Amino acid sequence: MKSACDHAGWCRRPLFLTALLLVAATAAGAGLLFAWRAAPQHWPRQPLQHAPTARTVRPADWAELTLAGGPGGNDWVLLPDQPQQPPFQSPFTAAQRGFLAPQDCVECHADYCDTFQHTSHARTSSLPSTDTILGSLQPGHNVLTTARPELQFRMHAQNGSIVQTVELQYPPLRTVFTGSFPIDLVFGSGNHGQSYLWWNNDRLYQAHVSYLSEGDAWVNSPGPYYDGTVDFSRPVPLRCMECHVTWIGADPQEMNRFDRQTLIPGVTCVRCHGPAHEHVAFHRQHPEETRGKRIVNPAALSIERQNEICAQCHSAGEEHSSLFSYRPGEPLQQWLQPDLSASAESNADPHSANQLARLMQSPCFQQSGGFACTLCHDPHQNQSGSATYARHCRSCHQQNSCPEVQHPDTGSLAETRCVVCHMPARRDAQVAMQTRHGNIEALLRDHQIGIWPATATAERAKLADTLRQALQPQNNPQHSPGAQEGTAP
Ligand code: HEC
Ligand code: HEC
Ligand code: HEC
Ligand code: HEC
Ligand code: HEC
Ligand code: HEC
Ligand code: HEC
Repeated sequence: MKSACDHAGWCRRPLFLTALLLVAATAAGAGLLFAWRAAPQHWPRQPLQHAPTARTVRPADWAELTLAGGPGGNDWVLLPDQPQQPPFQSPFTAAQRGFLAPQDCVECHADYCDTFQHTSHARTSSLPSTDTILGSLQPGHNVLTTARPELQFRMHAQNGSIVQTVELQYPPLRTVFTGSFPIDLVFGSGNHGQSYLWWNNDRLYQAHVSYLSEGDAWVNSPGPYYDGTVDFSRPVPLRCMECHVTWIGADPQEMNRFDRQTLIPGVTCVRCHGPAHEHVAFHRQHPEETRGKRIVNPAALSIERQNEICAQCHSAGEEHSSLFSYRPGEPLQQWLQPDLSASAESNADPHSANQLARLMQSPCFQQSGGFACTLCHDPHQNQSGSATYARHCRSCHQQNSCPEVQHPDTGSLAETRCVVCHMPARRDAQVAMQTRHGNIEALLRDHQIGIWPATATAERAKLADTLRQALQPQNNPQHSPGAQEGTAP
């Protein structure tokens, strides 16, 4: 069986060596415009469409382009092969499987749909536009430079699409190597960042350049995307889609082959409520019925079954069968055996912080008989910035059970900020991006509620600092401990 790492986007693994160093002459039609030209007449370069016919880069040529120090030796430009079969067509549509889009709910649940569209789930995948792509396309801000001065990536509009263009200038040989890859699908709400996918005919691949919200910057994609290399060859397997889209028809034989016409973007209603076609048909026929029929309401399930709905995507584990056929309310292990071993040091892949595993390791969870993710999270609202998680802690804990809350100075601040000390936000080394300035790691919140002495010491100092600032308003009013490790809710 596949390991989660085969599927996950943001975990470390060796370079995808099997990708071919191939520029297929037939590629242009599918949007793969990668050309290699020797000794152009003029500098700057000619537009790509005037490029001579693309050709395979022979290893002999390649050696001359390869600079010392590349992590993969000669394989530092990776491109996929051009598929030869006719495009895959799914034998059934999403609707036939009961996977309806929120548009099919809005006539009767306008209120839910209205608030839901602003959630990270709804926005976690989308078609490309200048609104959904968060990285800047403005000249001056649309370039990712690398540690190799001759290599850069430029993000820009071209012939009605938005593309990532690789620009390799190699003056010693007067060689130009340039090619554009369309952004066809946007992954990530932008809480942390976005990755971009492109269709090579019916195969889906990840693009080299991602966007990191922290610092508002273009970056090398997380995982095995080394700075100074070019990789557009990394297949996007079914598992990524299961976590980031509502549904897409997938070829069971090939890991990254899909029917792109069938895509329902976003993680939407039916992933948590199950197939809804019978529910919709019933209520259309019985407009007088006020109780919901033929649909799963997670609140009516056991805690375990409720949390398994979330564990489809917020847990590592071994997958037995595609989650596009999982039905909320059924025991999840028939589809996915959740791996509950994640620790503070190792979140286990994929790049989700394995919230279920960590939560289940908390004394709070174990000694209270357990509780649902929805104790703290409302799946129908965007909670960022507004949620007061402390009240959920207080539903079980007396204020005064915590010595920090009783502190004569900082106690009043501590009492609204339980989670900064007891659910630390940490840099996750498994979600790292290489940049020319060093590695950047994602900041995720540990769901093991507990006593974390080092975090508490640091947070106590920050609270004292906040208090000092508040008492001296003439000091720089803009200063706030802000978006640093451990702060926020
Ligand atoms: C097991 C489910 C799972 C798989 C597989 C998965 N992701 Fe994710 N992804 C998540 C979750 C959950 C988050 C939110 C991270 C968190 O907060 O813990 C996330 C976050 C992200 C983000 C950042 C979104 C933000 O918050 O701004 C991007 C980009 C992303 N994933 C891309 C991918 C790509 C590309 C793949 C496949 C190559 C992939 N993911 C595979 C579950 C998954
Ligand atoms: C033709 C009207 C109609 C459509 C369309 C419709 N629903 Fe409902 N739904 C209802 C009614 C009526 C109820 C019961 C009253 C309520 O809870 O709002 C209900 C209740 C529910 C419930 C709660 C069930 C329970 O046991 O309490 C869920 C969940 C739900 N709908 C999900 C959906 C989803 C998801 C969609 C879209 C795929 C959808 N509905 C489309 C009419 C509809
Ligand atoms: C991430 C999972 C998730 C998504 C996505 C989701 N829901 Fe829910 N929904 C839940 C859970 C969990 C509950 C039970 C909440 C609770 O514990 O009260 C629920 C409850 C409901 C209810 C019943 C509320 C009640 O009165 O009991 C309705 C109706 C509903 N959802 C409709 C929708 C619609 C419509 C959408 C899409 C626009 C949607 N949901 C998207 C998880 C989800
Ligand atoms: C089909 C996959 C899937 C399911 C099911 C799912 N999630 Fe998520 N969830 C994601 C992904 C992917 C993200 C990252 C979204 C992003 O930022 O791009 C996410 C993000 C989140 C976030 C961060 C939201 C924010 O605004 O920062 C929370 C909280 C969350 N999920 C809770 C839940 C809970 C609770 C459930 C179950 C009721 C659930 N999820 C079910 C895939 C899923
Ligand atoms: C459903 C009830 C419940 C909720 C909600 C809850 N806890 Fe607990 N918590 C417990 C129980 C039961 C224990 C174990 C007995 C004890 O130490 O009081 C515990 C233990 C703890 C401990 C001691 C851990 C250790 O390692 O000894 C801390 C700290 C804590 N909780 C903080 C929190 C914080 C902060 C929140 C909110 C984010 C929270 N709890 C939410 C029930 C809960
Ligand atoms: C500034 C950091 C900080 C904040 C904020 C904070 N705590 Fe604590 N908390 C601690 C530390 C440190 C301990 C361990 C104290 C000890 O054992 O000496 C602790 C202990 C606890 C315990 C376990 C007490 C015991 O006797 O086992 C609970 C329960 C708890 N806190 C709940 C909360 C709740 C609820 C809030 C918010 C209302 C909160 N804490 C806010 C740092 C913090
Ligand atoms: C005791 C309260 C509590 C429970 C229960 C809880 N969470 Fe969270 N969760 C939080 C807090 C607090 C944050 C940080 C929110 C923020 O930074 O705005 C968070 C953040 C998240 C995020 C965003 C990623 C990140 O690291 O910031 C995801 C995804 C998530 N939770 C999923 C889940 C899932 C899945 C469950 C159930 C297995 C769950 N949570 C249960 C309190 C909780």
